[in-house]
Amino acid sequence: MTNPDNPLEEAVRGVFDPGLFDSIGDLGLLRSVKTRRGRTEVVVAVPAAGHPAPRELAAEVEKAVAAAGGAPSALELVNMTEAEEAELHARLRELGSGPSAHRAGGEAAGPHGHDGAGHGAGGNGHGAEGPTPRPNPFADKASHTRVIAISSGKGGVGKSTVTVNLAVALARRGASVAILDADVYGFSVPSMLGIDRPPSVVGDLLIPPVAHGVRCISMGFFVNEDQAVMWRGPMLHKALEQFLLDVHWGRPDFLVLDLPPGTGDVAMSIAQFVPRAEVLVVTTPQVAAERVAQRAAVLARQLRLPVRGVIENQSWFTGDDGKRYELFGHGGGETLAKSLGVALLGQIPFLPALRQAGDAGVPVAAFDPEGEAGRAFASLAERVVALGPGRVYRSELSIG
Ligand SMILES: Nc1ncnc2c1ncn2[C@@H]1O[C@H](COP(=O)(O)OP(=O)(O)OP(=O)(O)O)[C@@H](O)[C@H]1O
Ligand SMILES: [Mg+2]
Repeated sequence: MTNPDNPLEEAVRGVFDPGLFDSIGDLGLLRSVKTRRGRTEVVVAVPAAGHPAPRELAAEVEKAVAAAGGAPSALELVNMTEAEEAELHARLRELGSGPSAHRAGGEAAGPHGHDGAGHGAGGNGHGAEGPTPRPNPFADKASHTRVIAISSGKGGVGKSTVTVNLAVALARRGASVAILDADVYGFSVPSMLGIDRPPSVVGDLLIPPVAHGVRCISMGFFVNEDQAVMWRGPMLHKALEQFLLDVHWGRPDFLVLDLPPGTGDVAMSIAQFVPRAEVLVVTTPQVAAERVAQRAAVLARQLRLPVRGVIENQSWFTGDDGKRYELFGHGGGETLAKSLGVALLGQIPFLPALRQAGDAGVPVAAFDPEGEAGRAFASLAERVVALGPGRVYRSELSIG
Protein backbone atom coordinates (compact mmCIF):
# COMPACT_ATOMS: atom_id res chain seq x y z
CA MET A 1 0.00 0.00 0.00
CA THR A 2 2.88 2.34 0.81
CA ASN A 3 5.30 3.54 -1.80
CA PRO A 4 9.04 3.28 -1.10
CA ASP A 5 9.86 5.74 -3.88
CA ASN A 6 8.11 8.53 -2.07
CA PRO A 7 10.65 10.24 0.25
CA LEU A 8 7.95 11.93 2.29
CA GLU A 9 6.31 8.60 2.93
CA GLU A 10 9.65 7.04 3.81
CA ALA A 11 10.25 9.83 6.30
CA VAL A 12 6.89 9.22 7.95
CA ARG A 13 7.40 5.46 7.99
CA GLY A 14 10.56 6.08 9.99
CA VAL A 15 8.85 8.17 12.69
CA PHE A 16 9.54 6.65 16.10
CA ASP A 17 6.21 6.19 17.83
CA PRO A 18 6.54 7.89 21.24
CA GLY A 19 3.84 5.68 22.74
CA LEU A 20 4.50 2.27 21.19
CA PHE A 21 8.31 2.51 20.96
CA ASP A 22 9.09 1.41 17.43
CA SER A 23 8.82 3.09 14.04
CA ILE A 24 5.27 3.45 12.76
CA GLY A 25 6.41 1.76 9.57
CA ASP A 26 7.68 -1.32 11.37
CA LEU A 27 4.65 -1.35 13.62
CA GLY A 28 2.44 -1.48 10.54
CA LEU A 29 0.51 1.62 11.55
CA LEU A 30 0.98 3.83 8.50
CA ARG A 31 -2.00 3.81 6.17
CA SER A 32 -1.24 6.66 3.77
CA VAL A 33 0.62 9.89 3.14
CA LYS A 34 -0.92 12.29 0.62
CA THR A 35 -0.29 15.89 -0.27
CA ARG A 36 -3.50 17.77 -0.87
CA ARG A 37 -4.43 21.45 -0.86
CA GLY A 38 -1.08 22.49 0.60
CA ARG A 39 -1.21 19.95 3.42
CA THR A 40 0.42 16.62 4.02
CA GLU A 41 -2.33 14.29 5.10
CA VAL A 42 -1.06 11.37 7.14
CA VAL A 43 -3.37 8.54 8.12
CA VAL A 44 -2.25 6.24 10.92
CA ALA A 45 -4.11 3.21 12.22
CA VAL A 46 -4.31 2.85 16.01
CA PRO A 47 -5.68 0.20 18.38
CA ALA A 48 -9.36 0.41 19.19
CA ALA A 49 -8.51 1.31 22.80
CA GLY A 50 -6.78 4.44 21.51
CA HIS A 51 -3.23 5.59 20.99
CA PRO A 52 -1.26 6.15 24.23
CA ALA A 53 0.34 9.39 23.06
CA PRO A 54 -1.67 10.98 20.22
CA ARG A 55 -0.34 14.52 20.69
CA GLU A 56 3.27 13.41 20.89
CA LEU A 57 2.79 11.23 17.80
CA ALA A 58 1.33 14.15 15.85
CA ALA A 59 4.33 16.28 16.86
CA GLU A 60 6.80 13.61 15.71
CA VAL A 61 4.99 13.23 12.38
CA GLU A 62 4.99 16.99 11.92
CA LYS A 63 8.74 17.12 12.60
CA ALA A 64 9.51 14.33 10.15
CA VAL A 65 7.33 15.85 7.43
CA ALA A 66 8.94 19.27 7.88
CA ALA A 67 12.45 17.76 7.82
CA ALA A 68 11.60 16.00 4.56
CA GLY A 69 10.45 19.29 3.06
CA GLY A 70 6.74 18.44 3.06
CA ALA A 71 3.84 20.81 3.56
CA PRO A 72 2.51 21.10 7.17
CA SER A 73 0.91 17.86 8.16
CA ALA A 74 -2.47 16.82 9.44
CA LEU A 75 -2.55 13.51 11.27
CA GLU A 76 -5.68 11.43 11.15
CA LEU A 77 -6.00 8.46 13.47
CA VAL A 78 -8.27 5.65 12.36
CA ASN A 79 -9.11 2.39 14.11
CA MET A 80 -7.23 -0.73 13.13
CA THR A 81 -8.97 -3.86 12.05
CA GLU A 82 -8.94 -6.78 14.46
CA ALA A 83 -6.42 -8.60 12.28
CA GLU A 84 -4.12 -5.57 12.30
CA GLU A 85 -4.44 -5.33 16.05
CA ALA A 86 -3.50 -8.99 16.45
CA GLU A 87 -0.40 -8.32 14.35
CA LEU A 88 0.47 -5.26 16.39
CA HIS A 89 0.09 -7.31 19.55
CA ALA A 90 2.50 -9.94 18.22
CA ARG A 91 4.98 -7.20 17.30
CA LEU A 92 4.77 -5.54 20.71
CA ARG A 93 5.27 -8.85 22.50
CA GLU A 94 8.28 -9.52 20.34
CA LEU A 95 9.70 -6.08 21.13
CA GLY A 96 9.23 -6.67 24.83
CA SER A 97 10.89 -10.04 24.87
CA GLY A 98 14.55 -9.19 24.35
CA PRO A 99 16.28 -7.10 27.00
CA SER A 100 19.36 -6.12 25.07
CA ALA A 101 17.91 -4.49 21.99
CA HIS A 102 18.16 -0.96 23.24
CA ARG A 103 18.55 2.24 21.38
CA ALA A 104 21.59 4.39 21.90
CA GLY A 105 20.72 7.70 23.50
CA GLY A 106 17.25 8.97 24.04
CA GLU A 107 13.92 9.15 22.31
CA ALA A 108 15.48 11.15 19.49
CA ALA A 109 17.71 8.27 18.49
CA GLY A 110 15.30 7.25 15.79
CA PRO A 111 13.68 4.19 14.44
CA HIS A 112 15.67 1.13 15.01
CA GLY A 113 16.25 -0.95 18.04
CA HIS A 114 14.93 -4.35 17.22
CA ASP A 115 17.91 -6.48 16.56
CA GLY A 116 15.89 -9.56 17.24
CA ALA A 117 18.04 -10.48 20.21
CA GLY A 118 16.10 -13.09 22.07
CA HIS A 119 12.59 -13.89 21.13
CA GLY A 120 11.72 -14.76 24.66
CA ALA A 121 10.20 -17.96 25.77
CA GLY A 122 8.82 -19.39 22.64
CA GLY A 123 7.65 -17.70 19.63
CA ASN A 124 6.17 -14.74 17.99
CA GLY A 125 3.22 -14.10 20.18
CA HIS A 126 0.63 -15.64 17.94
CA GLY A 127 -2.13 -17.41 19.71
CA ALA A 128 -3.68 -14.86 22.00
CA GLU A 129 -5.39 -17.72 23.86
CA GLY A 130 -2.25 -18.97 25.53
CA PRO A 131 0.42 -16.29 25.55
CA THR A 132 3.81 -17.34 26.80
CA PRO A 133 4.88 -15.57 29.97
CA ARG A 134 6.94 -12.49 29.24
CA PRO A 135 10.38 -12.36 30.80
CA ASN A 136 10.85 -9.65 33.40
CA PRO A 137 12.56 -6.88 31.43
CA PHE A 138 13.91 -5.21 34.55
CA ALA A 139 15.51 -8.18 36.28
CA ASP A 140 17.70 -9.13 33.35
CA LYS A 141 21.42 -8.38 33.66
CA ALA A 142 21.50 -7.22 30.07
CA SER A 143 18.76 -4.64 30.64
CA HIS A 144 20.05 -1.12 30.24
CA THR A 145 17.19 0.40 32.23
CA ARG A 146 18.14 2.10 35.46
CA VAL A 147 15.40 1.57 38.02
CA ILE A 148 15.28 4.40 40.53
CA ALA A 149 13.06 3.89 43.57
CA ILE A 150 12.06 7.08 45.34
CA SER A 151 11.47 6.35 49.00
CA SER A 152 11.12 8.04 52.37
CA GLY A 153 10.33 7.03 55.89
CA LYS A 154 7.52 9.51 56.25
CA GLY A 155 4.55 10.57 54.17
CA GLY A 156 4.12 13.99 52.69
CA VAL A 157 7.79 14.88 52.29
CA GLY A 158 7.47 15.22 48.52
CA LYS A 159 8.24 11.78 47.07
CA SER A 160 5.65 12.03 44.32
CA THR A 161 6.64 15.59 43.49
CA VAL A 162 10.27 14.49 43.21
CA THR A 163 9.36 11.35 41.23
CA VAL A 164 7.36 13.28 38.64
CA ASN A 165 9.73 16.21 38.26
CA LEU A 166 12.88 14.09 38.21
CA ALA A 167 11.28 11.93 35.50
CA VAL A 168 10.30 14.97 33.44
CA ALA A 169 13.76 16.51 33.89
CA LEU A 170 15.40 13.25 32.73
CA ALA A 171 13.09 13.14 29.70
CA ARG A 172 13.98 16.73 28.86
CA ARG A 173 17.63 15.64 28.71
CA GLY A 174 16.67 13.22 25.96
CA ALA A 175 16.33 10.06 28.04
CA SER A 176 13.46 7.67 27.58
CA VAL A 177 11.63 7.63 30.92
CA ALA A 178 8.82 5.68 32.58
CA ILE A 179 7.18 5.97 35.99
CA LEU A 180 5.63 3.14 37.94
CA ASP A 181 3.44 4.67 40.62
CA ALA A 182 3.93 1.92 43.19
CA ASP A 183 2.17 3.94 45.88
CA VAL A 184 -0.85 1.70 45.60
CA TYR A 185 -2.55 3.28 48.63
CA GLY A 186 -1.98 6.92 47.85
CA PHE A 187 -1.38 7.08 44.12
CA SER A 188 -0.99 10.64 42.89
CA VAL A 189 1.29 10.45 39.87
CA PRO A 190 -1.39 10.41 37.11
CA SER A 191 -2.98 13.61 38.39
CA MET A 192 0.41 15.29 38.89
CA LEU A 193 1.29 14.44 35.29
CA GLY A 194 -2.14 15.52 34.09
CA ILE A 195 -2.91 12.10 32.63
CA ASP A 196 -6.61 11.78 32.11
CA ARG A 197 -6.88 8.57 30.12
CA PRO A 198 -6.30 4.99 31.13
CA PRO A 199 -3.68 2.75 29.56
CA SER A 200 -4.57 1.36 26.14
CA VAL A 201 -5.00 -2.38 25.97
CA VAL A 202 -3.67 -4.40 23.06
CA GLY A 203 -4.26 -8.11 23.53
CA ASP A 204 -2.83 -8.94 26.94
CA LEU A 205 -0.59 -5.87 27.05
CA LEU A 206 -1.15 -2.58 28.82
CA ILE A 207 0.26 0.40 26.95
CA PRO A 208 1.01 3.27 29.34
CA PRO A 209 -0.29 6.73 28.52
CA VAL A 210 2.37 9.40 27.99
CA ALA A 211 2.49 12.96 29.33
CA HIS A 212 5.34 15.46 29.28
CA GLY A 213 7.50 12.84 27.62
CA VAL A 214 7.00 10.35 30.47
CA ARG A 215 4.96 7.14 30.38
CA CYS A 216 3.20 6.02 33.48
CA ILE A 217 1.36 3.11 35.03
CA SER A 218 -0.47 3.60 38.30
CA MET A 219 -3.02 1.86 40.46
CA GLY A 220 -4.93 5.09 39.99
CA PHE A 221 -5.91 3.93 36.51
CA PHE A 222 -7.69 0.89 37.86
CA VAL A 223 -9.66 2.08 40.86
CA ASN A 224 -11.87 5.07 41.60
CA GLU A 225 -10.25 8.01 43.32
CA ASP A 226 -12.40 7.52 46.43
CA GLN A 227 -12.10 3.76 46.50
CA ALA A 228 -9.86 2.68 49.34
CA VAL A 229 -7.27 0.17 48.24
CA MET A 230 -6.94 -2.45 50.94
CA TRP A 231 -4.68 -4.86 49.14
CA ARG A 232 -2.16 -6.72 51.12
CA GLY A 233 0.48 -9.37 50.70
CA PRO A 234 -0.13 -11.78 47.84
CA MET A 235 -2.67 -9.67 45.94
CA LEU A 236 -0.49 -6.64 46.11
CA HIS A 237 2.47 -8.70 44.99
CA LYS A 238 0.46 -9.97 42.03
CA ALA A 239 -0.70 -6.47 41.08
CA LEU A 240 2.85 -5.11 41.13
CA GLU A 241 4.03 -8.06 39.09
CA GLN A 242 1.40 -7.29 36.46
CA PHE A 243 2.35 -3.63 36.45
CA LEU A 244 5.91 -4.65 35.66
CA LEU A 245 5.42 -7.61 33.33
CA ASP A 246 2.17 -7.06 31.45
CA VAL A 247 3.07 -3.54 30.40
CA HIS A 248 4.69 -2.56 27.11
CA TRP A 249 7.37 -0.38 28.72
CA GLY A 250 9.50 -0.02 25.61
CA ARG A 251 12.84 -0.46 27.37
CA PRO A 252 13.17 2.96 28.93
CA ASP A 253 16.52 4.38 29.99
CA PHE A 254 14.97 5.07 33.40
CA LEU A 255 12.08 3.57 35.31
CA VAL A 256 11.30 5.79 38.29
CA LEU A 257 9.27 4.19 41.07
CA ASP A 258 7.17 6.20 43.49
CA LEU A 259 7.11 3.99 46.59
CA PRO A 260 4.52 4.30 49.35
CA PRO A 261 5.76 6.03 52.50
CA GLY A 262 7.60 3.90 54.98
CA THR A 263 8.33 0.27 54.67
CA GLY A 264 6.37 -2.85 53.98
CA ASP A 265 4.90 -5.20 51.42
CA VAL A 266 5.39 -3.01 48.38
CA ALA A 267 9.09 -2.51 49.02
CA MET A 268 9.53 -6.26 49.57
CA SER A 269 7.82 -7.07 46.28
CA ILE A 270 9.78 -4.42 44.41
CA ALA A 271 13.05 -5.80 45.75
CA GLN A 272 12.07 -9.17 44.40
CA PHE A 273 10.90 -8.02 40.96
CA VAL A 274 13.53 -5.36 40.38
CA PRO A 275 16.65 -6.58 42.13
CA ARG A 276 18.68 -3.90 40.36
CA ALA A 277 16.69 -0.98 41.73
CA GLU A 278 18.63 1.92 43.20
CA VAL A 279 17.06 3.77 46.11
CA LEU A 280 16.97 7.55 46.50
CA VAL A 281 15.71 8.79 49.85
CA VAL A 282 13.70 12.00 50.05
CA THR A 283 13.77 13.99 53.24
CA THR A 284 13.03 17.47 54.50
CA PRO A 285 15.47 19.66 56.43
CA GLN A 286 14.05 18.99 59.90
CA VAL A 287 15.92 16.51 62.02
CA ALA A 288 12.77 14.51 62.87
CA ALA A 289 12.08 13.87 59.20
CA GLU A 290 15.68 12.89 58.76
CA ARG A 291 15.35 10.22 61.46
CA VAL A 292 12.34 8.69 59.81
CA ALA A 293 13.92 8.77 56.39
CA GLN A 294 16.87 6.95 57.84
CA ARG A 295 14.52 4.09 58.66
CA ALA A 296 13.64 3.77 54.98
CA ALA A 297 17.30 3.68 54.16
CA VAL A 298 17.88 0.92 56.69
CA LEU A 299 15.08 -1.05 55.09
CA ALA A 300 16.63 -0.59 51.68
CA ARG A 301 19.80 -2.06 53.09
CA GLN A 302 17.81 -4.98 54.47
CA LEU A 303 16.28 -5.48 51.05
CA ARG A 304 19.78 -5.36 49.62
CA LEU A 305 18.96 -2.50 47.35
CA PRO A 306 21.69 0.11 47.28
CA VAL A 307 20.89 3.60 48.54
CA ARG A 308 22.51 5.86 45.97
CA GLY A 309 21.71 9.27 47.32
CA VAL A 310 19.57 11.68 49.31
CA ILE A 311 17.29 14.42 48.05
CA GLU A 312 16.29 17.22 50.38
CA ASN A 313 12.94 18.79 49.59
CA GLN A 314 11.53 22.10 50.80
CA SER A 315 15.04 23.24 51.64
CA TRP A 316 14.34 26.95 51.58
CA PHE A 317 11.97 29.58 50.33
CA THR A 318 13.31 32.50 48.33
CA GLY A 319 11.50 35.68 49.32
CA ASP A 320 10.73 38.66 47.13
CA ASP A 321 13.83 40.24 48.66
CA GLY A 322 15.90 37.49 47.03
CA LYS A 323 16.92 36.07 50.42
CA ARG A 324 16.64 32.38 51.20
CA TYR A 325 14.51 31.56 54.23
CA GLU A 326 14.97 28.13 55.73
CA LEU A 327 11.39 27.59 56.78
CA PHE A 328 11.74 23.98 57.75
CA GLY A 329 15.09 23.93 59.48
CA HIS A 330 18.51 23.20 58.15
CA GLY A 331 20.85 20.35 57.42
CA GLY A 332 18.56 17.29 57.43
CA GLY A 333 19.57 16.15 53.97
CA GLU A 334 23.26 16.70 54.60
CA THR A 335 23.17 14.83 57.91
CA LEU A 336 21.28 11.89 56.45
CA ALA A 337 23.56 11.68 53.41
CA LYS A 338 26.62 11.68 55.65
CA SER A 339 25.28 9.01 57.94
CA LEU A 340 24.48 6.81 54.94
CA GLY A 341 27.77 7.50 53.24
CA VAL A 342 26.11 8.73 50.06
CA ALA A 343 25.85 12.08 48.30
CA LEU A 344 23.20 14.74 48.82
CA LEU A 345 22.11 14.78 45.17
CA GLY A 346 19.83 17.76 45.27
CA GLN A 347 18.03 20.38 47.29
CA ILE A 348 14.62 21.46 46.07
CA PRO A 349 13.32 24.85 47.20
CA PHE A 350 9.88 25.30 48.68
CA LEU A 351 7.81 26.98 46.02
CA PRO A 352 4.05 27.52 46.23
CA ALA A 353 3.95 27.14 42.43
CA LEU A 354 5.18 23.57 42.84
CA ARG A 355 2.04 22.60 44.67
CA GLN A 356 -0.19 24.46 42.21
CA ALA A 357 1.63 22.86 39.28
CA GLY A 358 1.16 19.45 40.83
CA ASP A 359 -2.52 20.08 41.38
CA ALA A 360 -2.93 21.34 37.81
CA GLY A 361 -1.19 18.33 36.29
CA VAL A 362 1.63 20.33 34.76
CA PRO A 363 4.92 19.56 36.54
CA VAL A 364 7.14 22.55 37.18
CA ALA A 365 10.05 20.76 35.44
CA ALA A 366 7.93 20.91 32.28
CA PHE A 367 6.35 24.37 32.41
CA ASP A 368 9.10 26.35 34.07
CA PRO A 369 12.38 24.48 33.58
CA GLU A 370 14.39 27.70 33.91
CA GLY A 371 12.77 28.76 37.18
CA GLU A 372 14.28 28.10 40.60
CA ALA A 373 12.61 24.71 41.11
CA GLY A 374 12.95 23.71 37.46
CA ARG A 375 16.68 24.30 37.62
CA ALA A 376 16.91 22.34 40.87
CA PHE A 377 15.26 19.33 39.22
CA ALA A 378 17.42 19.67 36.10
CA SER A 379 20.53 19.63 38.25
CA LEU A 380 19.18 16.66 40.23
CA ALA A 381 18.63 14.80 36.95
CA GLU A 382 22.18 15.62 35.92
CA ARG A 383 23.55 14.26 39.20
CA VAL A 384 21.51 11.07 38.85
CA VAL A 385 22.82 10.53 35.31
CA ALA A 386 26.38 11.30 36.39
CA LEU A 387 26.10 8.79 39.21
CA GLY A 388 25.82 6.03 36.62
CA PRO A 389 24.16 2.70 37.17
CA GLY A 390 24.89 0.93 40.42
CA ARG A 391 27.32 -1.93 40.24
CA VAL A 392 24.76 -4.25 41.75
CA TYR A 393 23.34 -6.79 39.40
CA ARG A 394 22.17 -9.41 41.85
CA SER A 395 20.56 -8.74 45.16
CA GLU A 396 22.97 -11.23 46.78
CA LEU A 397 25.92 -9.14 45.63
CA SER A 398 24.92 -5.84 47.17
CA ILE A 399 27.82 -3.43 47.14
CA GLY A 400 25.97 -0.33 48.21
N1 LIG B 1 9.18 21.85 47.20
C1 LIG B 1 7.88 22.01 47.35
N2 LIG B 1 7.32 23.26 47.36
C2 LIG B 1 5.98 23.41 47.52
N3 LIG B 1 5.10 22.42 47.69
C3 LIG B 1 5.61 21.16 47.68
C4 LIG B 1 6.99 20.89 47.51
N4 LIG B 1 7.17 19.54 47.53
C5 LIG B 1 5.96 19.01 47.74
N5 LIG B 1 5.01 19.96 47.82
C6 LIG B 1 3.58 19.76 48.05
O1 LIG B 1 3.44 19.04 49.27
C7 LIG B 1 2.43 18.07 49.17
C8 LIG B 1 3.00 16.67 49.44
O2 LIG B 1 3.92 16.37 48.41
P1 LIG B 1 3.93 14.94 47.72
O3 LIG B 1 2.56 14.50 47.42
O4 LIG B 1 4.90 14.99 46.60
O5 LIG B 1 4.54 14.11 48.93
P2 LIG B 1 4.60 12.53 49.13
O6 LIG B 1 5.82 12.27 49.94
O7 LIG B 1 4.48 11.84 47.84
O8 LIG B 1 3.30 12.29 49.98
P3 LIG B 1 2.55 10.91 50.30
O9 LIG B 1 3.34 10.30 51.37
O10 LIG B 1 1.20 11.36 50.72
O11 LIG B 1 2.57 10.11 49.04
C9 LIG B 1 1.84 18.21 47.76
O12 LIG B 1 0.70 19.02 47.81
C10 LIG B 1 2.96 18.90 47.00
O13 LIG B 1 2.46 19.67 45.91
MG1 LIG C 1 3.05 10.44 47.15
